[in-house]
Amino acid sequence: MIIFVQNNAFVLKPLNDFPMLYKKLAASTEKALNEQVQLEAESSQYYLAMASWAEVQGYNGIAQFLYRHSDEERVHMLKLIRFINDRGGHGIVPTLKQPAVTFKNILEIFELVLSHEILVSTEINKLVDHCLQEKDYTTHTFLQWYVAEQIEEEKMATQILDKLKLIGEDKGGMYIFDRDMATLQTEDRR
Ligand code: FEO
Repeated sequence: MIIFVQNNAFVLKPLNDFPMLYKKLAASTEKALNEQVQLEAESSQYYLAMASWAEVQGYNGIAQFLYRHSDEERVHMLKLIRFINDRGGHGIVPTLKQPAVTFKNILEIFELVLSHEILVSTEINKLVDHCLQEKDYTTHTFLQWYVAEQIEEEKMATQILDKLKLIGEDKGGMYIFDRDMATLQTEDRR
């Protein structure tokens, strides 16, 4: 939105009315970014479903971790929507399909988290490649935050899986793991 004065009155105009002021997103880039909006929204729903299942099973620490993770995926989606709009496009709030309701066990949940994050990384890399082909260096720079984030997310899921494999069937180990997960940061704060 741009505010300017016309006939002694403040007038609000959408950025789209001033294409000469900035370089708009290419239609193909806007479409690709909106597909990523959808994937981040689906990630949030997916982790929310996992959190709810874990909570019902009595894994309150794991549930807290997954609720936080779900919230952060929503933030990833919002960052994309705001960026698309700032660049003269339209961030589209997507329809979401029903995620899984039940899961086999905690190990399966984190195997699914890792495979889902690998999928997200693949899609981010495709977006980065698209930006290079389009010579859209602004969007390319914006996406570097997501590239770094995906390194952390895959690392975190892998480390959690390593711990779960060590714990195996040990119920005491699982109790401590659940307690520790309540305070585990879902994003690297370096
Ligand atoms: Fe936003 Fe975990 O990808």
